[in-house]
Amino acid sequence: MIKYIVQGGTKLSGSVTISGAKNAAVAILPATLLVSGPCRIENVPDISDVRLLLEILRDMGAEIRRYGRNTLEIDCTRARNATAPIELVRRIRASYYLIGAELGRFGHAHVAMPGGCNFGVRPIDQHIKGMRALGAEVHVDEEAHLLTARAAKLRGAEIFFDVVSVGATINVMLAACRAEGQTVLTGVAKEPHVVDVANFLNMMGASVRGAGTDVIRISGREKLHGCGYAVIPDQIETGTFMIAAAATGGDVVIKNVIPTHMEATSAKLMESGARVIEGDDGRDFYLRVVMDGRPRPVNIKTMVYPGFPTDLQQPMMAYLSTAAGVSTVTENIFENRFNHVRELRRMGASISLRERVARIKGVNALRGAQIYASDLRAGAALIIAGLMASGRTQVHNIEFIDRGYEYLDQKLTALGASIRREAR
Ligand code: UD1
Repeated sequence: MIKYIVQGGTKLSGSVTISGAKNAAVAILPATLLVSGPCRIENVPDISDVRLLLEILRDMGAEIRRYGRNTLEIDCTRARNATAPIELVRRIRASYYLIGAELGRFGHAHVAMPGGCNFGVRPIDQHIKGMRALGAEVHVDEEAHLLTARAAKLRGAEIFFDVVSVGATINVMLAACRAEGQTVLTGVAKEPHVVDVANFLNMMGASVRGAGTDVIRISGREKLHGCGYAVIPDQIETGTFMIAAAATGGDVVIKNVIPTHMEATSAKLMESGARVIEGDDGRDFYLRVVMDGRPRPVNIKTMVYPGFPTDLQQPMMAYLSTAAGVSTVTENIFENRFNHVRELRRMGASISLRERVARIKGVNALRGAQIYASDLRAGAALIIAGLMASGRTQVHNIEFIDRGYEYLDQKLTALGASIRREAR
């Protein structure tokens, strides 16, 4: 087991470059199964979820070449209609994209029910509803936790999602790209990574229109071809560094960002007293976050994009734990995403929970403690709390953090933080 040891109290300063978006990359990699021919993908984050997906694809017969740290060439021309290795699939939530990709490619999918971060029930009924509407027979073996889907021919359909789901939107989009005829998806997610995956699919010759709005129209294609693509910057990593900068009273320039993706986060940080300055250095857009003193309390409600992202709710709560007053965080997306609260309390935070609402009474300061990450974004919140706290914090279970943050410790160290990894 590995842990981070954080010595708190340093104001972050300097500049940091944001990596490619995890949630786009984990969909784009399985999407390469839909194609005959090589796909060269740049700006792929070197994180454990990506490494796992590459292992799964390799096992299915994909040829993968790496050019430098973040560029991959994936050629699934010779991929077999094989079952993705169950023990690998179970370790990653986004393995559900193998359902859409395998169905689109082979007309058959046999996938273990997804694992990944656990914060309440995370059903995939909308994914299944979509695949069935496209003509697939889907069977879930509850005991073996296996999903089997089969379709002699996928046919375009009109699908109304009952829940706005990032995963279901992208998954059905993948399969529909290879269906016969037109698919219309209504009630879709509009997150930046949904648009990014649609752009990637279009570069492969697909016809996906309307991503980023409430309705997506897909005209199925018999064949898709290889392409070159660069993954967008990670919205959640950007937000994490913005919050970390404000939480330490720092002054940080965050480079390689798309400022419009960050509007909800910027607005809340500004409401709390931070300055958020947008700029363009001629190469990249950047956001500079500057903060002095204690934050003002703010109220946050997580919403689907363009609302405040659920993935930044936990880091924001760490930040608000020392606000000068009472803040609230209402979690509207997931039913139980408050595992980080107990750990923040160990550091002296005063947080009470009532159903989906956390009430955070700001304290003067947090103090270092032994704390345990329960999922990816909770882990990010605990690192931020450690940076804010007096004394030494040990953050355990950082395997969760490695799933989605590329070289987090190195990036923070370059900003002046005292953080190191240690194997137990
Ligand atoms: C994705 C992101 C995750 C983010 C979340 C919300 C990836 C790999 N993960 O997760 O980081 O926190 O979006 O922005 O992109 N739901 C159903 N039925 C379904 C699917 C979802 O009821 O079939 C519910 C979920 O339980 C949840 C809500 O819909 O309450 C949103 O979930 P969804 O957008 O699907 O999240 P994920 O795709 O799992």
